[in-house]
Amino acid sequence: MTILTRFVTGAVAVLALSLPAAATEYRIAVGDGAGGTQEALGKAFIAALEEESGGEMTGKLFLNGQLGDEQDTVTAAATGTLDFSILAINNITPFSPSVGTLTLPYVILSQDDAEQLTQGEIGQQMIEQTIEDAGVRIIGWAYSGFRVLTNSKRPVSTVDDLQGLVIRVPKNEIMIETYKSWGVNPTPMAWGETFAALQQKVVDGQDNPYMTVYAMKFDEVQKYITNLHYIFSIEPLIISEALFESLSEEEQQQVLAAGEAATKASSEFLRAEESKIKEELVSRGMEITDPANNEQEFIDLATTAVWPKFYDQIGGKEVLDNVLTSLGREPAK
Ligand code: MLT
Repeated sequence: MTILTRFVTGAVAVLALSLPAAATEYRIAVGDGAGGTQEALGKAFIAALEEESGGEMTGKLFLNGQLGDEQDTVTAAATGTLDFSILAINNITPFSPSVGTLTLPYVILSQDDAEQLTQGEIGQQMIEQTIEDAGVRIIGWAYSGFRVLTNSKRPVSTVDDLQGLVIRVPKNEIMIETYKSWGVNPTPMAWGETFAALQQKVVDGQDNPYMTVYAMKFDEVQKYITNLHYIFSIEPLIISEALFESLSEEEQQQVLAAGEAATKASSEFLRAEESKIKEELVSRGMEITDPANNEQEFIDLATTAVWPKFYDQIGGKEVLDNVLTSLGREPAK
């Protein structure tokens, strides 16, 4: 809580401005609980939206999937029954497969990579594609860090250690295939069901960033963390395209500017807070293991087996090559 309070200090000052009685309040669905990057992005967005619109527009966050599971919120926003949602990008991929390029294993290797891709030309293309495919517009990005593996049974440092563990993954083909490449048949499950499944030991483990493990209190039901780096989690803020189109040009610009401000705040939030959260999880009894041999076995299996399977879905191998070369790397083999 304290980290968030510190983060939003500036924002709180803006919120303290009195809003006009007729301010429009938008509903913003948030998949995670309090204390993580999704809530931080949402709070920064609301503060910036109020400032940009002179208090004419504001928003209210509904945490912990109160407005529906992350994938369901995409459909709700597309049909205009929900205004905004903040959710993991892997939960948009089923509706807009080209976004999957950012969830292919070991494509994004750092926060700088994530920011460069989302805030540059490639991010812009994905925004346009998502409007077309899914009827939602990405207006901001939360950066949440690498999805680390957690489980309740044992330390995992090799692919061999993973065998026999029941791992929950989102309903996302790329992530399912990645675990299969490591010899595990994972259990696809909606995000909202995950805590209970871990608690009741229906599944042994899952992966999500440190910030999310903390926000969801997974330390209460998971003991071991493995520092995998296969996906750097990006969590977009989306607006119903129908709602966006219904706004005046001036309001649209205010919404976009607020999204940009929230993105910047999210970037600073992760850089400032992730290592503290990691320490906090250790102090609560979690044990952290690094993958053996710099993760090479995980990397080789996943990139060789998974990348080619998704070339068609993401729009061709050249789409991945474009991403890799824009990050200064070699095209895929
Ligand atoms: C998932 O695992 O479904 C998502 O990453 C959850 C999230 O949005 O934090």
